Amino acid sequence: MERGIHEQPSSLQMENTYIPELPDGTEEGMFLALDLGGTNFRVILLELSNGALIREKVKHYHIGEELRLGCGERLFDFLAECVSDFVRSHDLTGIRLPLGFTFSFPMIQKGLDVGILVTWTKSFNCPSVVGRDAVQMLREAINRRGDTHVEVLAVLNDTTGTLIQGAVLDRRTVIGLILGTGSNACYMERADRVQHWEGQRHGEKQVIIDIEWGAFGDNGVLDFIKTDYDRKVDDNSLITNSFTFEKYISGKYLGEIVRVILVKLVEDCVLFGGTASDMLLTSGAFTTSFVSLVEQDTVDDSCDSTSEIFDKLGLSYDPDDITIVKYVCETVSNRAALLVSICTATLLERLDCPDTTIAVDGSLYKYHPRLKSWMNKYIRLLAPGKKFRLLLAEDGSGKGAGLVAAIALRLKQRFSDT
Ligand code: BGC
Repeated sequence: MERGIHEQPSSLQMENTYIPELPDGTEEGMFLALDLGGTNFRVILLELSNGALIREKVKHYHIGEELRLGCGERLFDFLAECVSDFVRSHDLTGIRLPLGFTFSFPMIQKGLDVGILVTWTKSFNCPSVVGRDAVQMLREAINRRGDTHVEVLAVLNDTTGTLIQGAVLDRRTVIGLILGTGSNACYMERADRVQHWEGQRHGEKQVIIDIEWGAFGDNGVLDFIKTDYDRKVDDNSLITNSFTFEKYISGKYLGEIVRVILVKLVEDCVLFGGTASDMLLTSGAFTTSFVSLVEQDTVDDSCDSTSEIFDKLGLSYDPDDITIVKYVCETVSNRAALLVSICTATLLERLDCPDTTIAVDGSLYKYHPRLKSWMNKYIRLLAPGKKFRLLLAEDGSGKGAGLVAAIALRLKQRFSDT
C-alpha cells in the first residue's frame, strides 16, 4: 500500500478518487446514477432532501455477452440508449440531471470525472476500451443520441459508493469493502500522504483511495500461496495472469475453485466413485451460490441442499461424498475469509482510528452463511485491540453514486467561488 501510494512499483494501484469528503446532510435535488459492473446495468433516479433519500426509481437492463465482450462503442451506445429509455419513461427529457457513474473496474483517475480503464475484470472484456476514459466514452454516446440533458459529474467505483452509503448510515465509516462477483476495498486516506494528484489541490485534508486489491499479487508476491487449483482457475478465466487476489477470494471464482478440486478428487478415485458427470466437468457449473448452500448445510448439520446440488449436476453419491464436498467448500471459503481479513486488518492498522466502521456489500458477503463471523474472528486476531464493526451497506453502487454526484456538484460550486 505504501509503495502504491508513492507511485512506486506495486500490484496495489492505490488510486486517488478525488472525493475529499463524505455526505454532510445538505445534499438536495434529483440525481441520476448509473451502475455498471456486472451483467445487470442499472439506471437509478434519486431524490435527496437534506442528505436523505426520499424517492428512488430503478430500472435494470441486461447486458448480454455480445455487449460485454464486443466493441466498446456498442457497449456505451447501449448504456446511452438505456439512459434515454429511463429518462423518457419518467418524463424527465427536458430536465438537466447531474449524474454519478459507478464503473466498477480499475481506472486511472485524473479527476473526479475522468476514469481511464486499466483492464477489464469479472465478465467484461471489450477490447477497444482499455486505455480510454469511460466518462468520455459515455458522454460521446449520450451526445450521439442527443436526446437527454444529463451531465456526467463523477465516476466512481462500487467500493467508493459503499463507503459513502455506509457513512450515511454510520459516521464512523472510513472503509468500503466489496465481496461480490469481484472484490476490492477503498478507504479514507490523509491527503498529504497521496502523491498522485492531478490538477489543483484545494486544501483537502483527506481523500478516498481505491486500493484495487483484486490485482494484489499480479507481480508475483502472492505466488507462494498459489495452488495448482488456482492455476487451473486462472487458465480458464477470461483474462489470464490478471487479478490474482480476486481469483483467490471472489464470487466469480470460489465455485470454480471448488469444482476444479472436486474434479481432481474424482480423478484420484476418492470422490463420486471415481466418476464425474459431464456437468461437473463443465467450467462454471459449480457456482459460488452452490458453495454458500453447501456451507449452509454444514452450519445446519443437514445435507438437503448438497444432495439437491449433486442431483442437479447429475452425480451419483454416497454420504462420504457429501462429507468430502462440505469439507472442500469449507476450506475454500475459509481461505477467502482469511485472505480478506489479512488485508482488512492491515488497513485498520494503517488507519489508526480509535473506532472504525467497515461498510460491506456484495453477493458473496450477503449470502455466504459464515463469511462474516470468520471475518470478525480473523480481523480481531490480526488487528488486536482495534475496535471495528462490519456494516452491511446495501446498494452503495446506486445510492452512493447519487450522493457522489451531489458532492461533486457541491465541490464544483465551492471551487468556482474561490
Ligand atoms: C474491480 C473493482 C471492483 C470490484 C468489485 C473488481 O474486479 O476491479 O474495481 O470494485 O471488482 O466489484
